[in-house]
Amino acid sequence: MSAPGAVRIGQVGLGAWGANLVRNIDVLADLIWICDASEERRAQFGRRFPNARATAAFDEMLADPELEAVVIATPVPTHYALAKQALEADKHVFVEKPPAMRAAEMAELVDLAESRGRVLMPGHLLLYHPGVRKLKELIDAGELGEVLCIYGNRQNLGTIRKDENALWSLGVHDLSVILYLIDEEPSEASAHGNAFINPGVEDVVFCYLRFPSGKIAHLHLSWLDPHKMRKLTVVGRDKMAVFDDMELERKVTIYEKWPEQPAQNFGEWQTRTGDIVSPKIPSDEPLRLELAHFFRLVREGGDGVEARDGLAVVRVLERLQESLVSGRA
Ligand SMILES: NC(=O)c1ccc[n+]([C@@H]2O[C@H](COP(=O)([O-])OP(=O)(O)OC[C@H]3O[C@@H](n4cnc5c(N)ncnc54)[C@H](O)[C@@H]3O)[C@@H](O)[C@H]2O)c1
Repeated sequence: MSAPGAVRIGQVGLGAWGANLVRNIDVLADLIWICDASEERRAQFGRRFPNARATAAFDEMLADPELEAVVIATPVPTHYALAKQALEADKHVFVEKPPAMRAAEMAELVDLAESRGRVLMPGHLLLYHPGVRKLKELIDAGELGEVLCIYGNRQNLGTIRKDENALWSLGVHDLSVILYLIDEEPSEASAHGNAFINPGVEDVVFCYLRFPSGKIAHLHLSWLDPHKMRKLTVVGRDKMAVFDDMELERKVTIYEKWPEQPAQNFGEWQTRTGDIVSPKIPSDEPLRLELAHFFRLVREGGDGVEARDGLAVVRVLERLQESLVSGRA
């Protein structure tokens, strides 16, 4: 039973990730439609959510004037067309990452949402992770000193995808976080990788970014790896911090390690090591926080910053993809 005033929502895409979304939506909003091309998925979720109407036709769901918002959790290549259709039907849209595979298409969605006065929110899950919020707080408060470099490790064995490569599937997470943390777009972006399993779909990708301020970043993205890693390391001039999403309790660790040049040492650099501290991070589910943010935007309105930040991420992904393709040649 949903609360009075809850957003009336429909979800398209009831796959592996869609199941997590719909579980949270059922708690936070009024789920009135579910949509999936697969009859089996419709039947399975229809039994779990008997109050929601089930359909294979996205148009049928959009035609319902009661429907206020949609969540799109279909494969990446379908996102742009479905999001466009939903915005044109005057629905608010939450679309899984990345909302489009071309910056021009994402820009079109951003403009459409703005002109129709609708919310367009890309599913950049990690931006709602309390551990990432803590990193941002540390950086903005100057705790780490000037940020020099950031590197991300997002590796595992599987899920091997056919529609999107490791850059678009995995890198989108780290890129959204890096742009959020340092609030700059890179002046240089290059990527190398290889497609070992499915032709044309890179399983292993290494990215390099350089920002106008001189900061640099590196990403190792792979679903062909013995280690399951979900880690981001931020090297500041005064302290270093690690966000490790594989850790149950120590999600963020701050290392008081820094280089210094004592006057009595005739200009010789030395390294110093102090405490290693792990602040308490709330254990709230990031997906719950993310969706709650979307429903708040639908009810209270926003300034479109989520959509514009999403456009910046797609712009960088597109540049990295061009670099990856030129490396293939
Ligand atoms: N934020 C995260 O951490 C995270 C994690 C995993 C996946 N994802 C994203 O979620 C999305 C879905 O991933 P998944 O792993 O659930 O995929 P999936 O392949 O398991 O599920 C996709 C579902 O969409 C349905 N579908 C496809 N095209 C459709 C259409 N035109 N109309 C109706 N139904 C359609 C399929 O039948 C399937 O049930 C992807 O965009 C992926 O990038 C996000």
